[in-house]
This record gives sequence, C-alpha cells and structure tokens, in this order.
Amino acid sequence: MQSSTVSDKAALRDLVVSRRSVSPKRLIAPGPTPAEVEEMVRAAVAAPDHKGLRPVRFVVIPTDRRHDLARAFIDAKRERDPAASEDDLRRAGEKAFRGPLLIAIVLRIERDHPRVSVSDQMMTAGAAAQNMLLTAAALGYGACLRSGASATSRKVRQALGIAASEELAAFMIVGTSTETTQRARVIDISGMLENW
Ligand SMILES: Cc1cc2nc3c(=O)[nH]c(=O)nc-3n(C[C@H](O)[C@H](O)[C@H](O)COP(=O)(O)O)c2cc1C
Repeated sequence: MQSSTVSDKAALRDLVVSRRSVSPKRLIAPGPTPAEVEEMVRAAVAAPDHKGLRPVRFVVIPTDRRHDLARAFIDAKRERDPAASEDDLRRAGEKAFRGPLLIAIVLRIERDHPRVSVSDQMMTAGAAAQNMLLTAAALGYGACLRSGASATSRKVRQALGIAASEELAAFMIVGTSTETTQRARVIDISGMLENW
C-alpha cells in the first residue's frame, strides 16, 4: 500500500467530520456498483474486532426482492397497529423501496463469549457501519441508517432469515444524493472530553 500524503490525510479528516446522513427520500439511482459494495464491506471488516469474531453481517436486499420486504413491513405494521389505515400500511410498505442500495445490518453477538464482552462486539459493529458510511461518502454517495419498529419485528426478521440469536440493528440506505448542498456539521465536543 502506498503511504498517504499530507493532503490525503487532510481529505480523510475532512471526510470524517463533514459526513452527514442523507434522508432516504433524497437517495436515488445510481447506487454503488457490486464492486463498490464489496469495497464498503472490506472497510467494514477493517474495523477493530476483538478476537476477530466478526459480530456483524450485511444482507443486500436486491431490487427484485423489495416487494417481499414491503410485504413483511406491511404485515409488521398491521401486527403492531391493528387499527392502521390503508394509507399507513402503504407508507410502511414504501420503506422497502428506499434507495438504490438497501442493506440490512445484522448483529451476531456471542453473548457468552469468555473473553470478548457484548459491548466490545457492539463497538465493532458500530465501527463497521461507520466505515461503510465513510466509504460510501468517499465514493461520492449519500447514505443513512434507519432502524425503527420494523427492525425488531418478527415478520421482518423472518423474511430476512435472521436467526433467533441475531438482531437486525438497522438498514443502511445508499444512493446518489439529490441534496444540492451538504448540511454543514457543527462540531461541539462540550461534555465529551475531560481530564481525569
Ligand atoms: C443504528 C442507527 C439507527 C438509526 N435509525 C434511525 C431511524 O430509524 N430514524 C431516524 O430518523 N434516524 C435514525 N438514526 C440516526 C440517523 O441515521 C443519523 O445518524 C442522525 O440523524 C444524525 O445525522 P448525521 O449522521 O448527519 O450526523 C439512526 C442511527 C443509528 C446509528
């Protein structure tokens, strides 16, 4: 690997602090190519991972399976809200069609691992997701994470083949941002850093 130049490092720092989530409504085609998706996952596995447990996996929901996910979202909505209107159900289903790339982030935490705590594994999963978001940004795409009630729903978990020992942490949605200007980030670290 070539060593990074000073300007590469400055660009990386800028990418990290300026990254903003883009709403799924503002993410359109084209999305990342299969090779770019692999690049995002390579970045994910570069996250610090105590004992290399790989406590997270990623499930891409292809365009031709979005209807199946929509059905699960609708069933889940009906289950948790039996009084939901047709409009509510339609809106719940529409979430399955958000963004050209939709990825389920699945936690597979070893709860009884003798050496690696649950929080270590959660940290790995979070860092993996962030590495993916940053790689998406570096590739020129907008992205965001969405969880919500459907993530914990039995119907949605079943549809995606998520095991009882696993959790659906969130969906990552990636695509071309229609935002004309990226929202500036106000960096405020008050209360975050102290000397012991
Ligand atoms: C795991 C996870 C799930 C999230 N789920 C939602 C969600 O369902 N709805 C939502 O509005 N924001 C959700 N967020 C927050 C947004 O993705 C976003 O991070 C937040 O609005 C801050 O914006 P920023 O990323 O531009 O700083 C989630 C964040 C994380 C880390």
